[in-house]
Amino acid sequence: MISDAAAASRIFVTRNWYVGAMSAELRDKPLGRLICGQRIVFFRDPDGRPQAVSAVCPHRGADLGRGRVIGDSVECPFHGLRFNGGGACTRIPSQDAEAPIPRALRVPSYAVVEQGGMVWIWPEPNDTPTRAPEVPEVLGLKAPWRVRLLPEGRLSAGSYLNTMENALDDAHLAFVHKATVPGASERVAPFRITVDEDRRGYGGVATMAEIIAETPAVADVATGSGGLLDFIGRFAFESLKPVEKAYHYRMSGFVLITTTDASGPRDYTFAFFTPGDAERSWLFGGIARNHSLNFVAERLLERYMPALTAEDAKILGELVPEARGPGGLPIPFVIRADRQSFPFRRLYGDALVAEGKPVPWALDGAGAGAATGSGAATGDAAEAVTAVAGR
Ligand code: FES
Ligand SMILES: [Fe+2]
Repeated sequence: MISDAAAASRIFVTRNWYVGAMSAELRDKPLGRLICGQRIVFFRDPDGRPQAVSAVCPHRGADLGRGRVIGDSVECPFHGLRFNGGGACTRIPSQDAEAPIPRALRVPSYAVVEQGGMVWIWPEPNDTPTRAPEVPEVLGLKAPWRVRLLPEGRLSAGSYLNTMENALDDAHLAFVHKATVPGASERVAPFRITVDEDRRGYGGVATMAEIIAETPAVADVATGSGGLLDFIGRFAFESLKPVEKAYHYRMSGFVLITTTDASGPRDYTFAFFTPGDAERSWLFGGIARNHSLNFVAERLLERYMPALTAEDAKILGELVPEARGPGGLPIPFVIRADRQSFPFRRLYGDALVAEGKPVPWALDGAGAGAATGSGAATGDAAEAVTAVAGR
């Protein structure tokens, strides 16, 4: 059993905390989720604490996510076997209660933590996490900030790599998000890049990179429907004069886009991405802002977020099949604007190597037609990026 789950997760960094569910999604029923190629079922024990085990019943392979929660266990819908949060079988209803339960009858279990209104999972089966999840401060912002979260996770088209790089890519806004971000310019403003230089974030610890873009204007947002809300929405947003737009990202799938004006940070657009399978990723996230706190802006943002993410899922799902997998195109041609997202690929490759997993893309010489090595190569991501951008 363990080897199945482990094999399914070989293309992902699994010794890492990801968001598995919003707290509110996990109530009294089991919640089945596909995470890092593994079918996982979340449920709450009698103390309300979240638990997660493999959803594949080791008896005949029924989906425990379709069962029910009884006491400290999740019950299989097929023959009623029950498994607790530690993965042990607690009941075989077809045999006498006194009859022993084989010790080997278990499902892999996963470490879970509930924090910041989210249920975090460490999707390496039967493993002990080496650190606590990093819950970003944006989730705890108080007035005058208003934090609006997507109510539930969405599994959308886009491999983890393509999804993360897309979230860090300004060059697609004017094309993919023409309807929802009508003010986006085709040209990407100059940006500075800072990558986890001292490398202390490696070896399974969440790594962090930072990209700062100076952007001439905040893009106005719309629902993309072209309806009345979009029309009046134009007047619902304060007109900001941003001086900086910063992108922060971490290996945990967290992306934070900060817009700052002369008075300080004004809004944060943030996302938590979690690998689903080779071609799909989970999105959790939201927007925090300290401006435009009116009713119309609120309604507009409510619709804007799902519309924006649907646009991304559409383009990523329509990539040619050979570009959709975990590593994208075997040798992607890298243009100057990719400096913004490129360091992530390097960091992610390093994190895979730290787990002894193959890196599914060539990095050195990407786009130059000379890719030979693996993404495992050492070296400073920023350097590699500068070289690419120089052409
Ligand atoms: S398949 Fe789960 S109890 Fe039989
Ligand atoms: Fe996008």
